[in-house]
This record gives sequence, structure tokens and C-alpha cells, in this order.
Amino acid sequence: MKIFLDTADRQGIKKWAKTGIINGVTTNPTHLAKEGGDPKQVVLDICQMLPNGDISVEVTEKEPEAVYKQAREIAALSKNVVVKVPCAIEYYEIIKRLVQEDDINVNVTLVFTLVQGLMMCKLGVLYISPFVGRLDDIDVDGVDVLFALRPMIDKFAYLETQVLAASLRTVRHVHEAIDACAHAATVPLAVLEKMVHHPLTERGMERFLVDWQKLGIKKFP
Ligand code: E4P
Repeated sequence: MKIFLDTADRQGIKKWAKTGIINGVTTNPTHLAKEGGDPKQVVLDICQMLPNGDISVEVTEKEPEAVYKQAREIAALSKNVVVKVPCAIEYYEIIKRLVQEDDINVNVTLVFTLVQGLMMCKLGVLYISPFVGRLDDIDVDGVDVLFALRPMIDKFAYLETQVLAASLRTVRHVHEAIDACAHAATVPLAVLEKMVHHPLTERGMERFLVDWQKLGIKKFP
């Protein structure tokens, strides 16, 4: 299962890239606005930090042809860029062209239902991103769609497409993404921090150290 960072915070990405557990980054216009500076440079920096990772970068144009042109320009920024396009009917045709004619890796974002996911599988996109937290925000169980997507993909053998669990707000959400066999989960830095700590691991390490020191050995082995 791939773990992506859901941020454009270069300091945070740099820190976690070293650990070897990060398979990419999902930026979006909100993340890039928060990071500030020249967004093109921010994207290039992130692409360099994880040269083998998938770096999702979202289109910001509105009109379909402008989105198409911008998507191609974004894809040309780096070989590891994945272009994010919203799952809106006005973009279906350009998503098809990007995937089927231009061979561009597309991450379809703002997916909220199983049928939206099915339609994007039919277009052959690389990732579909169901937004779990934003469904929870409107009192719909976001995890339900997550659990439905992977069996649909496997049942109909849409082998090009992977589920990228997005809008994950808690460690519990990440557990649900694992249980739902999502191919990937994108997590905010704050959630990742919580994922990597466990009080029993920390307490266990302290206890082993205290017991070991009782031996009074200076060098081992
Ligand atoms: C995913 O690609 C999005 O960037 C992200 O998960 C959105 O999360 P939010 O709903 O917490 O803004």
C-alpha cells in the first residue's frame, strides 16, 4: 500500500522523504497557496525530493480546453507528476484524451460515489481519490465509498486504476483505508505524526534500556 503526504509543505516532505515510507505527495491549490512562493518552483522542489514518487498536481483552470492545455503543461514539469483533475462531467472528455491519447497519469479528485469511481475506471485513470473526510463533514459515512471501490475495481478488472484514499483526517481513517484495501492513502503531516508513535513502543524501549543498563556493560557486542 502506498503512503502519500497530503501537503505542499517542503520542510515536512523533506523530513519524511528520508524515512523511506513515502511514495509520493498529493498537492492541491489549497496546499500550494498555504506554502506560498512560486507554485511551479514548489512543485519542482517536491518532485526532486521524491524522484521515484508520484507527485499529484491539480489543474486550476476552469474551461475544459484550458484545463486540457494546463494539464499537459503540468505533466511536462517532471516525469513523476500525476495531474489531478476534478471528477466533473465537463472534464470527462479531456480526461479521456489525457489518459488515452497523451498517456498522461491522471489522479481524478473530488470523487464522492462508487458510480463516479466506476466512470473514471472506464476512462483508465491511474488514481481515483475518494474524499472520506468531506463526506463525513456532511454527515455521510465517507468510509462506505472507500470500502465499495476496491471490490468494484477487482470484480470488473479495471487493472489500470488504483484507489487513493483522500481527505483522511484521523489515524482511524487510515486504518479504514487499509481495511478497505485502498491501493494508496494520502495523509496530512499531523496524521502521519500520530501514526508513527505508540506509547507502548516508547515505554517498552525505555524499560529495555533501564534493564540493560543494570548489566553495567560499556560496549556490546
Ligand atoms: C487529496 O488529494 C486532497 O488534497 C485532500 O485529501 C483534501 O483533504 P481535505 O478534505 O482535508 O481538504
